[in-house]
Amino acid sequence: MNDIRSRYLGLSLRSPIVASPSPMTGSIERLLALEESGVGAVVLPSLFEEEVEKESMRLSDHLDAGAESFAEAASFLPSGPLGPVGPVRHVRLLSAAKDVLSVPVIASLNGSTDGGWLRYAAMLADAGADAIELNLYSVEADASRSAADVEEANLRLVEHVRWRVDVPLAVKLSPYLSSTANFARRLADIGVNGLVLFNRFYQPDIDVETREVVPRLELSTSADLRLPLQWVAILRPQLPQVSLALTSGAQSGTDVAKALLAGADVVMMASALLRHGARQILVAENELVAWMTANDYTSVSQLRGSVSAVSAQEPRAYERAQYIRMLDSYPVAAVPLTQVAGRD
Ligand SMILES: Cc1cc2nc3c(=O)[nH]c(=O)nc-3n(C[C@H](O)[C@H](O)[C@H](O)COP(=O)(O)O)c2cc1C
Repeated sequence: MNDIRSRYLGLSLRSPIVASPSPMTGSIERLLALEESGVGAVVLPSLFEEEVEKESMRLSDHLDAGAESFAEAASFLPSGPLGPVGPVRHVRLLSAAKDVLSVPVIASLNGSTDGGWLRYAAMLADAGADAIELNLYSVEADASRSAADVEEANLRLVEHVRWRVDVPLAVKLSPYLSSTANFARRLADIGVNGLVLFNRFYQPDIDVETREVVPRLELSTSADLRLPLQWVAILRPQLPQVSLALTSGAQSGTDVAKALLAGADVVMMASALLRHGARQILVAENELVAWMTANDYTSVSQLRGSVSAVSAQEPRAYERAQYIRMLDSYPVAAVPLTQVAGRD
């Protein structure tokens, strides 16, 4: 028997595969299907501060600094048939999920004001979240803010949430940081229990017919795994006490095995579940177990991080060497030698 039990944020999980926030984790029916398929834990869709109902939005205008950008962001949100939905919906989903599921339920939060981050983190913790994932999704478009300004503000924010709630905290990071390892270490130093690598930034397109900016949401493929894989391997030896979750690109049991070898404690899936349904958890788990059996691993703790250890001594030199090796590996002989038209 292969033991695939894992630990994440101090929680005991029956499997290292976790459902990442997406519509797949947004209803009790789907959450139950995920549990039935063997998921280790679920992360509910993020509570976005902009979603709060109009009444509380007016109240926030008076309470919070930066309320104008908050109201402006809210006006960009799609208005569905039900109108704006508030934190109440998230709290209801969280409480209902806690009532019916036996696997850990992690709440996710994306605030837009300091007050909002603190208020909603406390609300989610009080509603019974086993842990909270702080989704630091923000496109830093203000040219007057330096990288240090942005990082410092994020650190202070996370620190305040840390002081406010007792539940385990994870931070979902952007891949666009100048010094990811340093930021990760500083988060660990202020008491963050886990890091989720990485947020996928959705890039809008332009419709040349209507000349409008249009949203383009493309689900990931296994090729997207490599960026978080590299960073999990870099951070694992440097932050042994912090839980690492890989998100982006994991589709199959082979992808899960790669993430564990790099040093991830858990592997999160969203696209694969949206494409194939909850059953993909079971399929990936069976593939993982088959791979472990074929490679003589009896537990995931045995294989975890065995590849990241290779890069542990000199991470920067190791990454440089890998870069040069990668450029060098392109088969030049395969490049077609095209004739320029009109020349002999
Ligand atoms: C339709 C959709 C909705 C998502 N909603 C959230 C969300 O509410 N909060 C969040 O942190 N990530 C959200 N994500 C990002 C996923 O949780 C995940 O991090 C990302 O899709 C990369 O993982 P994947 O390659 O398995 O899809 C969403 C992704 C999709 C496709």
